[in-house]
Amino acid sequence: MYKKISILLKTLVLPAAVMLVTGTLGVGTWAQAATQSGNKIEKLTPSMSYAEYQKRYEKYYGDFTAQMAEEGNPAEFLLDDGKDLANKVVGSKGKSCASCHGKDALQLKGAATTFPKYNAELKGIMTFPLQINTCREKQMGAKPLKYESYDQLALTMYIKSLSNGMPIKVSIDGPARPFYEKGQVAYYKRQGQLNFSCAICHVQYAGYKARSNLISNNKHHADHWPCYRLKWGKTGSLQRRFRGCLKNMRAKKPPFQSEELRNMELYLTYLNNGDLIQVPGMRM
Ligand code: HEC
Ligand code: HEC
Repeated sequence: MYKKISILLKTLVLPAAVMLVTGTLGVGTWAQAATQSGNKIEKLTPSMSYAEYQKRYEKYYGDFTAQMAEEGNPAEFLLDDGKDLANKVVGSKGKSCASCHGKDALQLKGAATTFPKYNAELKGIMTFPLQINTCREKQMGAKPLKYESYDQLALTMYIKSLSNGMPIKVSIDGPARPFYEKGQVAYYKRQGQLNFSCAICHVQYAGYKARSNLISNNKHHADHWPCYRLKWGKTGSLQRRFRGCLKNMRAKKPPFQSEELRNMELYLTYLNNGDLIQVPGMRM
């Protein structure tokens, strides 16, 4: 059985929909951690080893994961459309992605492994969806694709799939460093009406249950996007998932590809260095 934990914040009225973690963790410990603020990072330790977490994950999702694999991933359909988009001429300059990146954009094999990364022109962090829109605007004279639209997801997924099976190797050296640090602070910062941080769930309480989910360890969080989610009935991006968790935290949701979300994406993806890219993913 899972050991139950308690999140008993004094002011907290937990809507039944948000969480169901109840039980034994002392209020004292919790309140202490909650008093920290500013840019300081609250030191959190995972409540269990990664091996123990994996055991719980397999026990909890075991049959379900196998069943999903058997039924196939609906997001696979986007791959063909993404490939067509890569070869399609659009915009005022009469070019397709293939004009510069080779037939089917195959020269971009491996490109996704280094994203997100620092970009001097942007003076910030370039993510994969943003890079694709930047090429459309600057290189093709075409309109950027709306984030989370079918075409944006399909193109991102197809180009990213060219790096499937390759390890993530994101750099946080040099000018990327301050953005990485901001992303880390955001990940550990308590926010929203529930006063949670991302790290409380995905570092400290990974392996415990929240609602009907087992909270995942943040290893492998960034390697499978765009991903099909049953709950959405749709494919979405990593930033959509960030915004979903922020909403559950009753916190502010920065817009897609805002600086905040790009920095957070850098932080999380760096943690996943060495994990193999596998898109499209599929999750509950
Ligand atoms: C006119 C040429 C041109 C076209 C057309 C073009 N790109 Fe690019 N692309 C570039 C150049 C040049 C770079 C590298 C410099 C930069 O960062 O802008 C680049 C960089 C990239 C990268 C990052 C590669 C890396 O390893 O960092 C990706 C991904 C990419 N393009 C995708 C696309 C997609 C998808 C399309 C079609 C929507 C497209 N590009 C259209 C010229 C082009
Ligand atoms: C109250 C606990 C809680 C908090 C706080 C929380 N999450 Fe989540 N998160 C979940 C649950 C539950 C899921 C769905 C099951 C799972 O994969 O953990 C999830 C899923 C995710 C996933 C998808 C994992 C995958 O394998 O596809 C990502 C990425 C993620 N969260 C990032 C974040 C970020 C970033 C923050 C902070 C902005 C955050 N979460 C805050 C509980 C939380």
